[in-house]
Amino acid sequence: MKPLLAGFFMIGLAAAAKDSCLECHSMLEGDLQAPAKAFGGDIHSKHGFRCNDCHGGDPNSDDLEISMSASRGFVGKPPRTAIPKLCARCHSDATVIHKFRPQQRVDQLAQYQTSVHGKRLATGDEAVATCIDCHSVHDIRETKDPQSPTYPLRLPETCARCHANAEHMAKYKISTTQFADYQTSVHWRALSKGNDLSAPNCATCHGNHGATPPQVTSVAEVCGTCHVVFKELFSKSPHQAPFADLGACVVCHSNHGIQRPSDKMLAGSSAVCSQCHDENSAGGKAALEMASLITKLDESVQRSDQILERSRSYGMEVSEALLRQNEAKENLIKARVAVHAFRVDDVRKRVTDGLAVTQDTWNSGTEALRERDHRRVGLAVSLSFILITLAGLWLTIRRIEASPRASTPQG
Ligand code: HEC
Ligand code: HEC
Ligand code: HEC
Ligand code: HEC
Ligand code: HEC
Ligand code: HEC
Ligand code: HEC
Ligand code: HEC
Ligand code: HEC
Repeated sequence: MKPLLAGFFMIGLAAAAKDSCLECHSMLEGDLQAPAKAFGGDIHSKHGFRCNDCHGGDPNSDDLEISMSASRGFVGKPPRTAIPKLCARCHSDATVIHKFRPQQRVDQLAQYQTSVHGKRLATGDEAVATCIDCHSVHDIRETKDPQSPTYPLRLPETCARCHANAEHMAKYKISTTQFADYQTSVHWRALSKGNDLSAPNCATCHGNHGATPPQVTSVAEVCGTCHVVFKELFSKSPHQAPFADLGACVVCHSNHGIQRPSDKMLAGSSAVCSQCHDENSAGGKAALEMASLITKLDESVQRSDQILERSRSYGMEVSEALLRQNEAKENLIKARVAVHAFRVDDVRKRVTDGLAVTQDTWNSGTEALRERDHRRVGLAVSLSFILITLAGLWLTIRRIEASPRASTPQG
């Protein structure tokens, strides 16, 4: 057995041998019992740690006075301001943590101390989040456990316990709508409905431990870490400089309640551009022109879709044209992305490329419908021939039957 594994084994044996803290607390009631009951599911318990690893004291003595005596290092329930350092005793110590998980980070406390939470706690403000407000205590789970309060689907609620609580946040000058807004967003929808764990939750944007509001100049960086192409276009655009102090992407898309964008953001009563550009300015004209270009391609794509769908429903072979429509749709997406260069020509190029495709697919559609008409005419002609022949036959039979049998020579 490797020495490391042997070490674990020893911890396991020791734990099995004597754990007066757990034994006694399991038999108590309420808040004194709860930690003991929950602890079985705790990651620390699973790794062989015990009550005294956080609280100190002596787990070998059944005597309350001895077991929980200061002389045996007992510290009792730590005050909130002491919690980060208590956790960090191990979590900032690579020699402890890396024994269990070689690649694990050991900078949580360092990060935390740079956050608004950490800075305020250091001044004695106990209303901010400490380690246990996000991770829980006595039932701390691995972050990848879906039951962990830091799991992406559960994290927003964890933050909301304070940030959506008007009473708790009353003495601060910040809003309490982040959670409600976030729940209407494309990001929460992708995460909760689409099960897309790559969509951002609160901590993705604010940092796990450095929960600060992204510095205003770095807000574009936050969005840009995922929406790379948008960021690249934006950073070369005429908005880069003037938006730097305003929040970049957030100016047009907001931060928490990001909605699915549409052409209405460019033109019309809810256009974002008209907040700053009047219709006759270069920016205003550009906005209207981009809107009309994109609308044109959008409508053209839909028209081609419809005619191809009609042809297909008549059994005509248009699969190739239907496939090509994807190319047109890709150009439509690219045109919407190209908006972020804020140069009309970039949008026009995508739209022109797209329109060339929809022209072709529209032609395929009309061709197919014409072909179907031809076939219909052909079918009508053959049908008429058959009918005329049948009618002729019928007449002939009638005539034969009508001729007097009597006159027929009888052998
Ligand atoms: C024989 C029973 C018994 C044993 C053994 C025991 N406790 Fe306790 N513990 C209690 C009781 C009763 C209280 C509540 C009264 C008190 O605070 O003295 C308590 C209180 C506590 C508290 C809350 C203190 C506070 O400040 O609110 C903590 C934490 C705690 N125990 C941890 C431990 C740990 C860790 C061990 C083992 C090293 C341990 N206990 C051993 C019975 C026990
Ligand atoms: C990973 C560290 C850690 C371990 C292990 C741990 N505790 Fe605690 N415990 C804490 C912290 C932190 C608090 C303070 C919680 C708070 O402020 O709400 C606490 C609080 C308590 C309290 C006070 C509860 C209250 O609501 O007043 C008791 C009792 C307690 N722990 C007992 C135990 C027992 C028994 C065990 C072992 C079964 C244990 N703890 C294991 C960190 C730990
Ligand atoms: C006695 C050392 C020790 C103390 C004290 C301690 N931890 Fe841990 N903790 C560990 C070890 C070792 C692991 C397992 C290695 C890992 O998974 O990172 C761990 C795992 C964790 C994990 C799971 C990480 C993951 O892999 O997903 C969380 C979360 C955690 N601890 C939070 C806390 C919090 C919060 C406190 C303070 C209340 C605390 N720990 C106190 C040693 C400790
Ligand atoms: C504001 C909430 C919050 C606070 C406060 C917080 N954490 Fe975390 N912690 C998180 C989130 C979110 C994750 C990442 C979860 C994931 O990866 O899915 C995380 C991850 C971890 C991990 C796993 C390794 C890693 O860094 O990703 C450990 C260990 C950990 N935290 C310990 C701590 C300790 C120790 C403290 C206090 C010094 C603390 N946390 C404070 C939210 C918090
Ligand atoms: C225990 C309550 C609590 C929890 C849980 C909590 N916070 Fe906080 N948070 C606060 C308080 C209190 C402040 C201080 C407000 C201030 O100074 O404006 C704060 C400050 C912040 C700030 C700085 C706001 C500013 O501009 O001043 C951000 C960002 C933040 N929290 C994000 C989060 C995120 C993200 C989570 C979840 C991962 C979270 N918080 C969990 C209580 C909490
Ligand atoms: C897509 C990234 C993103 C997500 C997800 C996100 N935030 Fe924010 N948040 C921001 C940005 C950017 C700001 C800076 C505000 C600004 O400059 O417009 C901010 C600001 C804040 C602030 C400061 C006060 C305020 O409203 O301006 C708090 C507190 C906050 N967020 C908490 C949260 C909480 C809680 C969640 C989850 C429910 C969350 N955030 C989710 C990007 C995000
Ligand atoms: C962690 C990665 C990540 C971060 C950070 C992020 N997003 Fe997203 N975003 C996504 C994912 C994933 C989707 C969902 C994709 C989908 O549904 O097509 C999305 C969707 C969107 C959409 C809707 C796209 C559409 O076609 O409907 C917009 C707009 C958006 N994000 C803007 C932002 C802004 C603005 C920020 C910064 C405040 C930001 N995002 C931060 C990953 C991220
Ligand atoms: C000046 C306003 C403005 C800024 C700043 C801005 N956008 Fe947009 N964004 C728009 C408009 C307008 C649309 C919708 C175009 C359309 O649908 O016709 C859009 C659409 C989007 C889309 C959806 C594209 C699609 O496929 O439908 C995403 C994602 C997006 N923006 C991300 C970002 C990111 C990331 C940033 C920052 C790097 C950013 N935006 C900055 C105005 C802006
Ligand atoms: C927050 C204010 C603001 C918003 C919103 C805004 N812009 Fe601008 N825009 C500016 C500023 C400031 C400049 C640089 C100064 C200038 O040339 O007018 C600029 C420059 C431009 C330019 C270059 C103009 C030139 O003279 O070459 C174009 C094009 C443009 N914006 C298009 C748009 C479009 C399209 C939207 C909406 C999607 C939009 N802007 C939204 C403030 C804004």
